[in-house]
Amino acid sequence: MKKVITYGSFDLFHEGHYQLLKRAKELGDHLIVGVTTEHYDLMRGKLNLVDPIRVRMENVWNTGFADEIIVEDHEGQKVEDIQRYGIDVFTLGSDWAGRYDYLKKYCEVIYLPRTAGISSSLLRDERQKIVRIGIIGTGRIAPRFLKETSFVSGIEVVNAYNPEEESARSFEEKYQIKTWTDHFESFLEEVDAVYVASPNETHSEYVRKSVLSGKHVLCEKPMTFTYNEAAELYDLAKENRVTLMEGIRTAYLPGFLQLLSVARSGIIGEICDIEATFTRIGLPGTREMTDEKYSGAFLEYGSYGMLPIFKLLGKDYEDVRIESVYGKKGIDTFTKVQFRYKNALATAKAGAGVKSEGELIIAGTKGYILVKSPWWLTRGFDVRYEDPGKIDHFESSFLGDDGLRYEIAEFISKVNGTGGNDYKLTAGESIAMADVVEKFMEKRKAYQAALA
Ligand code: CTP
Repeated sequence: MKKVITYGSFDLFHEGHYQLLKRAKELGDHLIVGVTTEHYDLMRGKLNLVDPIRVRMENVWNTGFADEIIVEDHEGQKVEDIQRYGIDVFTLGSDWAGRYDYLKKYCEVIYLPRTAGISSSLLRDERQKIVRIGIIGTGRIAPRFLKETSFVSGIEVVNAYNPEEESARSFEEKYQIKTWTDHFESFLEEVDAVYVASPNETHSEYVRKSVLSGKHVLCEKPMTFTYNEAAELYDLAKENRVTLMEGIRTAYLPGFLQLLSVARSGIIGEICDIEATFTRIGLPGTREMTDEKYSGAFLEYGSYGMLPIFKLLGKDYEDVRIESVYGKKGIDTFTKVQFRYKNALATAKAGAGVKSEGELIIAGTKGYILVKSPWWLTRGFDVRYEDPGKIDHFESSFLGDDGLRYEIAEFISKVNGTGGNDYKLTAGESIAMADVVEKFMEKRKAYQAALA
């Protein structure tokens, strides 16, 4: 019996899939089809899949060509499957030509011509209205955002806004994006959504104006500096029926989501302590090193450390203690925020102009989780126990340099109403972070006032 295997996501099952499976079946007597899990698709950069795996498997089965369906959930599985099932022919569409030649060591590899003019991506694009987005602020982050949007279906950057002429003009020339320097309302009229990437102190006002104009908002952290304002902005978004999301990238990475699930699974017992560190030496003269009012270590990087703490221990801590090391003009170069919970402790450390190991350690009553630096770009982690010889290693990955595309994909799903609820970063968690920011600002202001 000649055994054939093929793989795919088979999202929004279409004619191209049907033809591929039909011809794959004709290559032998027994066809095995591997259907990808959502987690694996996320890791390999296939974002915004519409159909859940059950539906995708059913659709493959309903063609009548598959004799067996299996799940594909990790890199390297193809080699395992070929050996395990005694495969004679591995086949995929010609869009993959050459990519799997290394499997020729194990079986015959055949790339079948792809059916022209159809793909899942195309169907996904057709189903959803393209979200027209404008970028507010054309500084360091804007070009990265622009690049990452090209990897997400359903979004188009149509314009940008920056009241500073020079920055606006050079952005327009370099990226061919229409850029407004005044008439904020006219800029807003051209878009469905905005990405706020302006200086920290301008975030909340832009969010407010955009939300009140009925625009969806993705805002860089920190969105605001006070609890009340954060709560008010989320209320305004609700009233105006728009999505408001604070952009803490780590929250949307597949590896970080897996880490949270493992930490909650009981494998390390009750969580007793969390320690998260984010530091960057940084460049002299940059905002985080010079802006004593609205920047510094904690305002730039503190949200990262608070994220796993609030996700795993909740936002109802009993006490918080904030200590900083201050540099020139009273800017914090290092800040340590210590939370006390009923049955646990947690520390978020942020440094600008200071370097330490960027690890995340979650200690429990049965073991601990160690996420090595840079933990905020979660690619894998260890679960370790009393016995130093026993280590469970979890491997995950994501595409792109900084995971920004996962945050954008989540935002687009939310705008389209296909993203489920906001469990990855809730409004409540974002508001709780603004509360800590407020406490930090009060303390730093007092220190700076005493300096003057
Ligand atoms: N395929 C094909 N002809 C098409 C589309 C897909 O032969 N027009 C093949 C692919 O080459 C692959 C299989 O169908 O062998 C499953 O592809 P999958 O990646 O699930 O579908 P795509 O439509 O290519 O998905 P996407 O647009 O998300 O990349």
